[in-house]
Amino acid sequence: MSFYVTTPIYYVNASPHIGHAYTTIAADILARHRRQRGENTFFLTGTDEHGSNIPRVAAEAGLGLQEFVDRNAAAFEDMTSRVNASNDFFVRTTDPRHGERVQEFLERIRERGEIYEGVYAGLYCTRCEAFYGEDELVDGLCPQHGIPPEHVEEKNYFFRLSAYRDPLLRLYEERPDFVLPRFRSNEARSFIERGLEDISVSRAGQHWGVPVPWDPGQIVYVWIDALVNYWSALAFARPDEDLRPRLWPDVRHLLAKDILKFHCVIWPALLLAAGLDVPKQLFVHGYLLMDERKMSKSLGNVIDPLDLIDVYGVDALRFYLFRVATFGQDGNISVDGLHERYERELGNDLGNLLSRTTAMVARYRDGRLRAAPVSKELQAAVGAVQTEAASRLDEFDLTGALELVWDLVRTLNRHVEQSAPWELARDGSRAGELDGVLYELADGLRAVAVALAAYVPDTSVRILEALGQPDSAPWEDVSAGRAVEADGIEAAPPLFPRVDAPTAAA
Ligand code: MSP
Repeated sequence: MSFYVTTPIYYVNASPHIGHAYTTIAADILARHRRQRGENTFFLTGTDEHGSNIPRVAAEAGLGLQEFVDRNAAAFEDMTSRVNASNDFFVRTTDPRHGERVQEFLERIRERGEIYEGVYAGLYCTRCEAFYGEDELVDGLCPQHGIPPEHVEEKNYFFRLSAYRDPLLRLYEERPDFVLPRFRSNEARSFIERGLEDISVSRAGQHWGVPVPWDPGQIVYVWIDALVNYWSALAFARPDEDLRPRLWPDVRHLLAKDILKFHCVIWPALLLAAGLDVPKQLFVHGYLLMDERKMSKSLGNVIDPLDLIDVYGVDALRFYLFRVATFGQDGNISVDGLHERYERELGNDLGNLLSRTTAMVARYRDGRLRAAPVSKELQAAVGAVQTEAASRLDEFDLTGALELVWDLVRTLNRHVEQSAPWELARDGSRAGELDGVLYELADGLRAVAVALAAYVPDTSVRILEALGQPDSAPWEDVSAGRAVEADGIEAAPPLFPRVDAPTAAA
C-alpha cells in the first residue's frame, strides 16, 4: 500500500504566509509518520502559476511573466524548506511537462464527448479564479474576497459537469470516508444534490496558460490546469519512472474549505470523465484566523511564518499549529499564544523533562544509562500511544495524536515527582530503584521523541542524541523498554531556550 499526500498548489501572485505553511506542515507530518511506518510514501506540493491575475501583477512588479513566477515560486520553495517539509517533489504548473499532461487530460475528456463549445456570459472573480452567479454574491461582491467580479462574455469550452450528479452521489454513498471530516462531506454532497451546472474549461482572449490542444486560441481554465497537477506530476517527478501506476489513485489531498467545491466535486467528476480513478481521500481543514478573521493577503492580516521561525525555531511553529486548533476546525492563532506554549509546553513540560533526566543520569550515574525493567503502567501508557496515535493519524486527526503524546509527557513528569530520584540517590540501599526510575524516564522520553519525530523532527533527534539513542525512529519503537544502554550522557542544554516575549509591535 502506498501513501501519496498532496497540498494545494499555491498561487504565486502572493507571498507565502502561515496559512500556506499550515497545510504544508500538515502534509509533512502525515508523510513523515507514514515513512516511520515503513510505507511507500510520496509527498507533493508546488505552485499554481497561470492565474489570470499574473500578467497584471507581473507588470506592476515591472517583471516579465516568467521572471515574475520564477521569483515567486522560489519564495514558496524556500518556505517549503524553511518549515522543514520533506516533500518528494515540487511541481510548477509552468513546467512544460505539466502542460503536456493537462492537454492530454483534456483530450481524454473531449474524446469521451464530455466537452462542448458554448458561450459563457457571467461574472468572474479573478482572485478565486471562479465563475459566480448573481445569487452567490454578497452585496454584489465576491463572497470570499469582497471585491467586485468582472463581467465576462466569451466563447468557451464547457465540461458536462451536470451529467456527474448521480455518479458523484453514488461515490459519496459508497465511500462515506471519501471526504473528511464528515461535516465537509455533507457539505459537498448537499451541493451536488442541489444540481450541478456545466463549467467552462477554457478562457478566450488570454495567453498566460496552457493552450487548448484543439483550439490554441484559448487557454485551459486555470483551475483545471491546477487540479491536474496531482496526476501529472507523478509522470515526471522521477526521471526514470512514471509513478502513476504505483501511486494513483492512492492519493490523499489536503486543502482548506475555501477550495472544497473544486476538489470534492469538480475534480472527481473530471477524473471520472477522463476514465481515471478518483482520489482515495480528501481532508478539508479549517482556517487559521487572526482576531477571528481569515488570514489573507487581501485582508492584510498575515503572519510571515519565517519571522516566527527566526525567533522560535521551526519546531515550535510546527508544534504550535497543531496544538492551538483542532485540525479540521478553524482556529485563532497569535504570537502571544505561540510564546505561551513555547514556554509552558515545549520549555517546561518537554525541555525540562529532558534536562532533568539527563542531569540526573550524569550526576547520579556518571552518565551511564543501565537497562532496567519498565513498570506495567508505563508500558501501557507508551503502548497506547503507539496504537492510538497511529489510528488518529490515519484519520487525519493531527491534533488528537499530538495530544496523546503530550499525555505521555505529562505522565513522565508526574513520574519524576512521584518517584523523587533525588531522594533515592541519598539512600545507597535504593540504588536499584534509582536505576529503574532513571531508565524509565530515559526510555519514556525516547518513546516520546520517536512519537514526536513527524511533528518536531529536529527536536526529536536532539532528544535521542542527548539520551545516547539511535536517531532512526521507526514507529515500532514507540514501545517501552527499547532504550539501549548508553554511556557519556551529559546534562542536556535547554531544548527551547528562553526568548524575549513579543512586543506589541510584533
Ligand atoms: N491555487 C489554488 C489551489 C489549486 S490546487 C489544485 C489556491 N491557492 S492559494 O494560494 O489560495 O492556497 C489556498 C490554500 O492555502 C488553502 O486551501 C489552504 O490549504 C492554504 N491556506 C491559505 N490560507 C489559509 C488560512 N488562513 N488558513 C488555513 N489554510 C490556508 O487556492
